[in-house]
Amino acid sequence: MTNKYMYFIANWKMFGDIKSINSLDKVIKFSKNIRNNKFKMIYCPPHTLLYPFIKKLKNTNIMVGSQNCHHEENYGPYTGSISAKMIKNIGAKYVIIGHSENRSSGDTDFLINKKIKAAINNGLKVIFCFGETLLQKKKNLTNKILFNQVKKAISGVKKLNYIFFAYEPVWSIGTGIVLKNNDLEKNINFIKNKLRIKFRIKEPKILYGGSVNPVNAKNLRKINNIDGFLVGGASQDPKKFIDIVKKSFI
Ligand code: PGA
Repeated sequence: MTNKYMYFIANWKMFGDIKSINSLDKVIKFSKNIRNNKFKMIYCPPHTLLYPFIKKLKNTNIMVGSQNCHHEENYGPYTGSISAKMIKNIGAKYVIIGHSENRSSGDTDFLINKKIKAAINNGLKVIFCFGETLLQKKKNLTNKILFNQVKKAISGVKKLNYIFFAYEPVWSIGTGIVLKNNDLEKNINFIKNKLRIKFRIKEPKILYGGSVNPVNAKNLRKINNIDGFLVGGASQDPKKFIDIVKKSFI
């Protein structure tokens, strides 16, 4: 951890129903009982659960974010979409942008850049996802891909300190495979240095995502340049999510 806080972000993807709200009780209790306040938990449920989560987590230190937003920042005739303005209006503070699952269904670098601007213009913090595919890794293109994705995403963005950079190798998402610590540390250092030197971000926040679970969290904590984790599958189980926080941080 090189920043003030360690961040634990739960990405529920297209999972969860109205009863899932009860699973937050355990997490609320955990966050209230713990004395160490150097970590932050952020829940990103599907859109249908955003508002119920915000109500449930009111008066706790757990925050809520959306999993995506439209590139038009206010309102418009876009069936099935929600805007950053709407997300902000209901009390969410974050939005995930550029997840590989959305890139593969049409989010281009250009759209991702527009979405980031729309989010920041509405006062939302952005959890920006980037990462190489297995083929790109095999071709030794990782650094080039990471740099390009980041550069295009933040082009013309003013408040760069509103962005959390979530490094998620595509081949690691949902597969149970995590990079070797050395490689992960190397890739994170590479992008962190670029953010510091080329884009002049004083204290860039870099998260790792991809098959994080309570077992590998213990090992991942050895990498000291990570500022937190973006957790998919394991975050739907409150016990596992709490365990990840405990094992990787406390
Ligand atoms: P996973 O997902 O933890 O299930 O691999 C991570 C993500 O997609 O953000």
